[in-house]
Amino acid sequence: MALLAPSLLSADFADLAEDVKKVENAGAHLLHIDVMDGHFVPNISFGAAVMKSLLGKTEMPFDVHLMIENPDDYLEDFVTDNTEYITVHQEACIHIDRTLRHIRSQGVKAGVAVNPGTSMSVLDYVLDDVDMVLLMSVNPGFGGQKFIESSLGKVKELDRIKKKRGLDFKIEIDGGINLDNVKTVVDAGVEIIVAGSSVFEAQNIEGRVKGFLQRIK
Ligand code: DX5
Ligand code: ZN
Repeated sequence: MALLAPSLLSADFADLAEDVKKVENAGAHLLHIDVMDGHFVPNISFGAAVMKSLLGKTEMPFDVHLMIENPDDYLEDFVTDNTEYITVHQEACIHIDRTLRHIRSQGVKAGVAVNPGTSMSVLDYVLDDVDMVLLMSVNPGFGGQKFIESSLGKVKELDRIKKKRGLDFKIEIDGGINLDNVKTVVDAGVEIIVAGSSVFEAQNIEGRVKGFLQRIK
């Protein structure tokens, strides 16, 4: 069964803890935390302080997605009791191998993300040392965008490489996922689904999470 990671980016910022409780109670597995710096992506979201305000209010593991330049300077701020993954962008890291080792040295799982226009060949030499690969299926920076169809081919290619090399990193997809396309990406090999607007903009958030879980089990 695939895991569901609702993205905090589309939650009600005036009532974060309440929205998080809803997705947690409905059975979502991870809380996806989108951190944007206004440099690597053309938007600013929130930083570690906002994420940490949820500590003690949820048991959900944090899946931190750093869309920032110089992530080595900041990633330790995101290491908490709840933090399971910290993912950095390949495009933002000059020394990606060093950065992934830095994440793991903090006792946290390390993920690497690639944008829609980035070839997966850049990952050839890091796949042995990552816990997760995040395939962006929209250009990062905003919630509510349309799924880029070529992402599906990337999922299949990555799944093939993973099996061929006998590796056990997780494949995550992020951007434009909804009830209509979630099953297709899971069938192609996705193991962790990020969903922002399609979860938090639903009239009934709990019902929407359950709808996702139904389709990905
Ligand atoms: C986009 C973020 C996503 C975003 C997804 O840059 O990385 O996690 O919240 O939002 P939806 O699911 O609305 O495309
Ligand atoms: Zn994200």
